[in-house]
Amino acid sequence: MYNTSQVILRNADRLEKLETLVLNPPADPLLAQLALPVRSLTWDYSVFLALQQYQKNPVEFAVQPSARGPYDQALIFMSKAQAEFSLLWQQACAHVKPGSSVWIVGEKREGIHSAAKRLADAGVRLVKVDSARHCQLWQALAPENVSPPVLEDLYQSFEMPWADRKLTICSLPGVFGVGRLDEGTALLLEHMGEVPAGRVLDFGCGAGVIGACLKATQPKAEVHLVDIHAMALESARRTLAINDLSGEVYPSDGLGQVSGKFRAIYTNPPFHAGVKTDYRVTTQMIRDARDHLEQGGELRLVANAFLHYPELIQEVFGNCETLAQTSKFRVLRAVNGQGR
Ligand SMILES: C[S@@+](CC[C@H](N)C(=O)[O-])C[C@H]1O[C@@H](n2cnc3c(N)ncnc32)[C@H](O)[C@@H]1O
Repeated sequence: MYNTSQVILRNADRLEKLETLVLNPPADPLLAQLALPVRSLTWDYSVFLALQQYQKNPVEFAVQPSARGPYDQALIFMSKAQAEFSLLWQQACAHVKPGSSVWIVGEKREGIHSAAKRLADAGVRLVKVDSARHCQLWQALAPENVSPPVLEDLYQSFEMPWADRKLTICSLPGVFGVGRLDEGTALLLEHMGEVPAGRVLDFGCGAGVIGACLKATQPKAEVHLVDIHAMALESARRTLAINDLSGEVYPSDGLGQVSGKFRAIYTNPPFHAGVKTDYRVTTQMIRDARDHLEQGGELRLVANAFLHYPELIQEVFGNCETLAQTSKFRVLRAVNGQGR
């Protein structure tokens, strides 16, 4: 069980048996053990899948809770991204009854202490009720009359020139590369080659910049965009819509929820999980990619130049070409069925 969950368990008697909105819970059996009437919301599809196994309580994978409540209390599991935490706080306060408690638990290294201080500076009444397992638990009094966040107001966008037109890329808080084109993504886009008609996949789509460029380049492509994060998927949908482009946007943990074969997979894959560097998702995606590519279909990937993906791609595909290299990034290409 996660440290934050252990701290909640130690304090279970404080939470009472009140109807609780839980935001951003970890993927462990805590909520089932607490035996509270809870509805939880996660932005992480892997957590959503895990929680469905652990508990019978309703869990939603969405940007905002669909049921307004009001709840008797809320419990927030800290997010280290400040913009995400602000959104969680606003959502919690908007969905509880006036004068209710909002519990906040988080690891010290995720910045729980500074988050609590920022709330106190903003006039929120809160007290620290426990400190253990490198975590803190705070009890805050929800301010009255807080409205749920309006997504429209939260988008940041930027324009980029692409194939004789301009594309507008829209991102919600916490989405990778918010408000600007990432340098690695830009390098991949420069070396996108000829985009095939037929099914193509943007894996780890973020705000949907790669998928939008694919569709704008090749209108006959059936573009699929997948990501694990609800904010990313919502942003990608908006990016496509605002540019009058079509595409299938859906959640997937790795390639787990992706079915069928593709002409090509394009990706600037993830290298972080929470506060840690983590190559497991990308390593697994590279291993699974061959099964999702047609014969002659290709994987095109940009990654930090120091990562050992060329060796892995060579092992899996029997070929790996470096299409471009800078001091920071490398664009790699592998073809299914070549060199095997
Ligand atoms: C480096 S970002 C690239 C975003 C976007 N394609 C771009 O180029 O701006 C990697 C993306 O992978 C997503 N991601 C992380 N873990 C994932 C997983 N297990 N399955 C699918 N997507 C994941 C992240 O949410 C993030 O949006």
